[in-house]
Amino acid sequence: MCGIVGYMGCHEASPVIMSGLKMLEYRGYDSAGICTMDLGAVEIRRSSGKLVNLERLLNEQPLHGTIGIGHTRWATHGKPTVVNAHPHRGGAVVVVHNGIIENYLSLKEELLDKGHMFLSETDSEVISHLVDEKLKTATTLEEAVRLALKDLQGAYALCILSQRDDKTLIAAKSGSPMVVGIKGHEFFIASDMPAIIANTREMVIMEDGEMAVFRNGTVIFTDLDGQDIVKTPRFIDWSPMMAEKNGYPNFMLKEIHEQPQAVKNVTAGRLRPNEGDVFLEGLHLSDRQLLSFERLCLVACGTSWHAALAGKYMIEEHCRIPVDVEIASEFRYRDPLVSGKTLVIPISQSGETADTLAALREAKSRDAHIVSICNVVDSSIARESDGVIYTHAGLEIGVASTKAFTTQLVALYMLTIRLGRANGAINLEKGREMIAALNALPDLVEKTLLLDPQIEEVACEYLTSWDAIYLGRGISYPIALEGALKLKEISYIHADGYPAGEMKHGPIALIDREMPVFVLAPNDRHLVKVRSNMEEVITRGGRVAAFCSAGDEETGKRAEFSLQIPWAGEVLSAVLFAVALQLVAYNFAILKGKDVDQPRNLAKSVTVE
Ligand code: M6R
Repeated sequence: MCGIVGYMGCHEASPVIMSGLKMLEYRGYDSAGICTMDLGAVEIRRSSGKLVNLERLLNEQPLHGTIGIGHTRWATHGKPTVVNAHPHRGGAVVVVHNGIIENYLSLKEELLDKGHMFLSETDSEVISHLVDEKLKTATTLEEAVRLALKDLQGAYALCILSQRDDKTLIAAKSGSPMVVGIKGHEFFIASDMPAIIANTREMVIMEDGEMAVFRNGTVIFTDLDGQDIVKTPRFIDWSPMMAEKNGYPNFMLKEIHEQPQAVKNVTAGRLRPNEGDVFLEGLHLSDRQLLSFERLCLVACGTSWHAALAGKYMIEEHCRIPVDVEIASEFRYRDPLVSGKTLVIPISQSGETADTLAALREAKSRDAHIVSICNVVDSSIARESDGVIYTHAGLEIGVASTKAFTTQLVALYMLTIRLGRANGAINLEKGREMIAALNALPDLVEKTLLLDPQIEEVACEYLTSWDAIYLGRGISYPIALEGALKLKEISYIHADGYPAGEMKHGPIALIDREMPVFVLAPNDRHLVKVRSNMEEVITRGGRVAAFCSAGDEETGKRAEFSLQIPWAGEVLSAVLFAVALQLVAYNFAILKGKDVDQPRNLAKSVTVE
């Protein structure tokens, strides 16, 4: 959610932190702040709203010093105001925090009794006061932090400075991500790699329960009992260029257009056309092991959940294996029926979504085998899984997930092939056909992107609508859900997706001239039924934009718009329809003048439950 950056080195900290925060702004943009330490004194600048406000403030009132910490916030406790912005100060201690401290109210009461004065409504401020309180008895800042962390319940990634020790910066993590970039005697700390990748690609990924103590050009990693931990930096194989817009007006459009390449990347080296099979290097399961599972359980949130639902359609149909699809935030709290005979598949772009991570841990505690589908390499979900299928979509910065979704669909399609080949539900010929369809996909994504001008016309026509409905049958149903989510997220138009056949059971009451209906009508076995559902809408005066398959002149004849999406086969056409619906949402949002990369109230990875 929030983004954290810390720096200790030989350069002015404030510009380094500011450029890191800019790379993290997609994680939260309600308010921001920086604190530096100079000549034994800490100084803080904070502002509400986006980072440009903080930048303006720093231009007027620059910060100096070669040690510093910064934060960009996605508000959980307390409104997005200046007083609630991080860094927070309690006595001599300054803290930036990502996560939620669940017992902050009781801690706050104790600290109030001891004379601490609180200024903000946040849970985070309590950490600074708590460390300050511990400093009264501890001999070092490091010890005070360790004592304070033992009192905290909840999730945190923290950077801490204190005026009492102007040579030390401390980072700690439990439940929220944190990485340390190392460049000689310079250290870059961040909640996400993109913040520091331009400075160094040598990174240490911190684990829960670890602390990093930076002092005088060195870093020592310890556990919460002060025992040293040996951590080896890894070379991160990402180019800083991935975090640039490359001439596009925003990251979302860039990422939409990266999809042909992203689809190539997720399949690269994995297709075995002759064997009609795929090789998923991170799966680590033999055919015999795959056959030992009684059922699959796909668990995810948001867009990734839509991919999971599409996965159910793929796997049940082609492999005849039962698949449950679970909303991660519900799964953990309802005594789920998973066991050692269940293959649990968490799906997550970021690999850090707190709900999905909690669901993974719940499933693990019930002996389930975990194979995740993740985009971010070495993310928490990836690390805690028994196997991983990486989607290799590259860095996704736009808050609205685009290329991450389509690559998840492709990863699930490949998993379908693997499972079907393992249990014999997919024979050699069918496997070869499926691989050929995959190989053809990137070009078809490219062709789908060319529909943009037509899609813009659709958006122009319905721009004043407050609501919209998306309809689809079969695998187009999850794609309809995803189309509706995209529209909601970035254009703030209320939208719902329904299985087309469900319309008549209630939502049809909503149909009038103000409610555009986007009908997904690929040329698959559901087409005849979808046409009937479309007629039901038109008959009631509804306005329809039909998304049909290339060559289908018939279906859209009575609709206000008829767009022809390339045909990629029954399953993979879903990827192309998803791309078209991304462009629908994008055009609506741009025409309405919305910020597509940083829509209001959202954050890229949701690391709180
Ligand atoms: O990183 P994850 O895939 O776990 O994220 C899950 C959701 O938070 C995410 O898909 C969210 O719904 C996106 N904003 C969708 O565009």
